Amino acid sequence: MNTRRPMVAGNWKMYGSHAANAALVEGLREGLASLGAATDAVDTLVCPPFVYLAAVAGQLGDSGVAVGAQNLCAETGQGAYTGEIAGQMLREVGCSHVIVGHSERRALYGENDELVARKYAAALATGLTPILCVGETLQERDAGSTSAVVARQVDAVIAHCGVAALGRGLIAYEPVWAIGTGRTATPTQAQEVHAFIRGRIAEHDAIIAGSLRVLYGGSVKAGNARELFAMPDVDGGLVGGASLKAEEFVAIVAAAAV
Ligand code: PGA
Repeated sequence: MNTRRPMVAGNWKMYGSHAANAALVEGLREGLASLGAATDAVDTLVCPPFVYLAAVAGQLGDSGVAVGAQNLCAETGQGAYTGEIAGQMLREVGCSHVIVGHSERRALYGENDELVARKYAAALATGLTPILCVGETLQERDAGSTSAVVARQVDAVIAHCGVAALGRGLIAYEPVWAIGTGRTATPTQAQEVHAFIRGRIAEHDAIIAGSLRVLYGGSVKAGNARELFAMPDVDGGLVGGASLKAEEFVAIVAAAAV
């Protein structure tokens, strides 16, 4: 038993429309309300595409579900950065959190450790809580380099922002081979890497390592959430596909509440 408050976060990726989002939010509101006081023990968050953030924040209203973005610009303030969105802008439309370094951004949009660390710093500088995603590819796991890869990704943020900055965000361990594949890490595999991440940070600061929330991501669904969340170093989940179905997401929140 640990004292960290679990979080269940939905990463909607590039899915949705005004109509689909409204229906999803309605389903979330109803489903979470039906869980009653159980949800008080869990932080809930959804991360829609940029253009829907304000509308979704408005629809969620007083539901207790927070809103986050999936990415932000490494630059803060305003400026000539065509196509980019600054942290302050995300705050203004209702975001409290932002995902940084998701593996899809690393793999498809060339985000390297240094850029991810700069984005992490930009999030904190603009009053957002960053959720730092780390994780190895299947090839890296098979080569036995999971620890080395995850350590490198975490260390880059510590080097750029300092260990205290990690205490102001969350980490999501998302093995790339488990994302959108239906192939979840076993609870034991997840626990092993979560404990490694915590240990790595403890080398710098044991108190931060002990209080930092480390979420698991990669094919989390209602059917496997409970056993994953039961692991001592798994503090909730970052959920992709299953976060687009209200019933599934609500069931995952319920699994985090036990
Ligand atoms: P998934 O995605 O739950 O669809 O595997 C997780 C993520 O990419 O955050």
